[in-house]
Amino acid sequence: MNILVTGGAGFIGNHVVRLLVNKYPQYRIINVDALTYAGNLENLHDVENASNYVFEKINLLQADELSTIFTKYNINTVIHLAAESHVDRSIVSPLDFVYTNIIGTVNLLNAAKKYWKLNPSDKNLFYHISTDEVFGTLGATGLFAETSSYAPNSPYAASKASSDHFVRAYAETYNLPIVISNCSNNYGPFQFPEKLIPLFTNNIIEKKALPVYGDGNYTRDWLYVKDHALAIDLILHKGKIGSTYNIGGFNEWKNIDLVKLLCKLMDEKLNQPIGTSDKLITYVKDRPGHDKRYAIDANKIKNELNWQPSVNFEQGLNETIDWYLENTQWLKNVTSGNYQQYYEKMYFERQ
Ligand code: NAD
Ligand code: TYD
Repeated sequence: MNILVTGGAGFIGNHVVRLLVNKYPQYRIINVDALTYAGNLENLHDVENASNYVFEKINLLQADELSTIFTKYNINTVIHLAAESHVDRSIVSPLDFVYTNIIGTVNLLNAAKKYWKLNPSDKNLFYHISTDEVFGTLGATGLFAETSSYAPNSPYAASKASSDHFVRAYAETYNLPIVISNCSNNYGPFQFPEKLIPLFTNNIIEKKALPVYGDGNYTRDWLYVKDHALAIDLILHKGKIGSTYNIGGFNEWKNIDLVKLLCKLMDEKLNQPIGTSDKLITYVKDRPGHDKRYAIDANKIKNELNWQPSVNFEQGLNETIDWYLENTQWLKNVTSGNYQQYYEKMYFERQ
């Protein structure tokens, strides 16, 4: 397989690339990423010299360059992760999300459609990675199933919903072989410190305020990123063409309870009195359109593909915090912007 992974330098992408490069030496993994603020090649330092790995710095908006990649590497499989991914940024700058998440996805679909002759006997796959946020919000009970209606509430969710619809439409209209998965909130190493868990971990290290939106009684379903990568590997190989799969952690937490657990674990690890980090909790103005609750019914992937999370939350959170504490230089590079020089040093200068 020649697998084009988009967004491989981002948070989830680097775990997917690492898993595929190490597990399948017979495959070639072509990582296409624009290296926006969220893309960091340092994340892939351990596999950058692997013989089955290639990096190409291309923006999804460069339609011609994208097409060239299909020919250059004889791409037969796409795993599409690249996106603008942060809700707060989408509230400030919705058009960035339209460009990358919608137009970028359509550019990629067009490149695949053009290169693959869409002959039913060809073994091609366009695997689109999406989010549970497309389904909108839940009340106190209920779960999102694959059949739930789309009702996105943030510009981010609306752009991802739109991209899902385009992927589906390309399957219906042009017979493009597709699969989509919609996953709940991920956490783990290498997550950009703008999302809840790495932001608050970094702020505790730096003794800065922990800005909890609204009353903190918002619920998310958290999944360890390596379990998401394993689910992606399974769907890539065993997923039914044309299907969608919901992926979740069976692990709901109210934000404030999660933040208090994080504070306690950080106090223990930093050898400071329990309650020290709690004092940093600051309730701030709510996020507009803030979704009350997300929760996934992941029974389809469990029953059909025998997937379930392998890491329980306490274990995953402990491993994640340990990783950030052991990699404070990574956090410093990311928060200072230094990481953006990595590409110039490691790739650009070689050419
Ligand atoms: P991320 O923001 O950490 O990484 C996104 C990557 O895409 C970066 O490497 C960035 O450089 C690249 N990128 C952005 N715009 C690009 C463009 N125009 N052209 C090429 N590359 C571009 O995101 P993430 O958290 O790793 O999420 C990856 C995917 O998974 C996204 O599609 C997201 O919607 C989805 N998802 C994320 C979560 C989560 O909790 N993080 C949960 C479910 C689904
Ligand atoms: P986030 O990590 O941004 O993911 P998403 O919005 O995709 O769920 O936020 C997770 C939850 O944490 C969400 O309910 C918003 C809340 N939150 C805060 O309370 N404060 C913060 O500073 C951030 C970034 C998020």
